[in-house]
Amino acid sequence: MLEIRNLTKRFGEVEAVKDVSISVPDGAFLVLLGPSGCGKTTLLRILAGLELPTQGQVVFDGQTVSDGDKSWAVDPAKRNSGLVFQSYALWPHMSVRGNVDWPLKVMKMPRAQRAERVKEVLTLLDIAPLADRYPNEISGGQQQRVAIARTIAPKPSVLLFDEPLSNLDAKLRVEMRTELMRLHRATGATTVYVTHDQIEAMTMASHVAVMNQGGVQQFGTPADLIGHPQTAFVATFVGTPPNNMIPVVKNGTGYRVGGRHMSLTPPADECFAMYRAESMTLSEAEGDTTLPMEMVETSAIAGRTMVTGLRDGLRLTAIVDRPPVERIGDTIQFRLPPEPDGWFGCDGGRIG
Ligand SMILES: Nc1ncnc2c1ncn2[C@@H]1O[C@H](COP(=O)(O)OP(=O)(O)OP(=O)(O)O)[C@@H](O)[C@H]1O
Ligand SMILES: [Mg+2]
Repeated sequence: MLEIRNLTKRFGEVEAVKDVSISVPDGAFLVLLGPSGCGKTTLLRILAGLELPTQGQVVFDGQTVSDGDKSWAVDPAKRNSGLVFQSYALWPHMSVRGNVDWPLKVMKMPRAQRAERVKEVLTLLDIAPLADRYPNEISGGQQQRVAIARTIAPKPSVLLFDEPLSNLDAKLRVEMRTELMRLHRATGATTVYVTHDQIEAMTMASHVAVMNQGGVQQFGTPADLIGHPQTAFVATFVGTPPNNMIPVVKNGTGYRVGGRHMSLTPPADECFAMYRAESMTLSEAEGDTTLPMEMVETSAIAGRTMVTGLRDGLRLTAIVDRPPVERIGDTIQFRLPPEPDGWFGCDGGRIG
């Protein structure tokens, strides 16, 4: 079990991690998901023991390994965790075999046992035929596999990944995603995986912590985040496509929804109505519940069509059965269903 308790990290004025508390069971695949600068790498570096928290604790299997309140932490090498970075520096003067063997040598594992283990992980990552090549003689994707093989060789009980696939092309990313999940099942190691890619997060994670500005916005399973987003940030960051969020303001006896007068019963005079892309439809004619928008994008998505419209900074996406007859740049009418799929307050919190 991995437990993060009230963890805070300050760099001078910057609060990179703010009062984060998360715990996951043994063998979990925890994804830290969030935009650039939200504190993912800092949190991962604290888990690895490379950074001391300002406050709070990290507990691996019941043992405290970092304690900010006591300014104390277990040495990175002694916490049985393995870290894979986005830029994976392999030793250029060592063969693939040599690179993977290195951490085992450092552990003082006997030679015969080392050879056995190196063979095992190279096979697991499908790179055994490359054992005698040097890093400059293999592709970027293969180098990434070597970096992962090197990290798992000592059998760490916690595996930490910082955007390990971001240097790979789109096809390789998808392949490596599957490989990493297979690896996770094979090793059973509790994994913490940092990414800003929500599709990666949703496909790989058993648990996701969505972060923004150092704090955790929501912690749950991928299904929780999609089904019950607790903040407007989560609702618009997670999902393919993300949910639509339309400002609603009281106006006389009714409400202005995205600039148009509509009869709705919102829980507050000023708030946001959330509509899932699947809930929206397109209408041929303007009506009481339609919003005219400029069509800016259409794309095919699993046999259906995703249509995006833009007006006055408001961006709406609908998933519809048939491609619209209108062309890019034309005005199209988005029809809102009678009830939104959720309400959010001005502070971004869910209110209904
Ligand atoms: N050593 C440091 N000194 C000062 N500020 C730092 C330091 N490391 C990180 N920060 C700041 O802390 C915040 C979080 O940084 P962090 O690298 O954890 O973000 P991230 O979520 O990993 O972003 P990205 O997706 O771009 O990698 C940022 O505002 C960053 O500028
Ligand atoms: Mg980072």
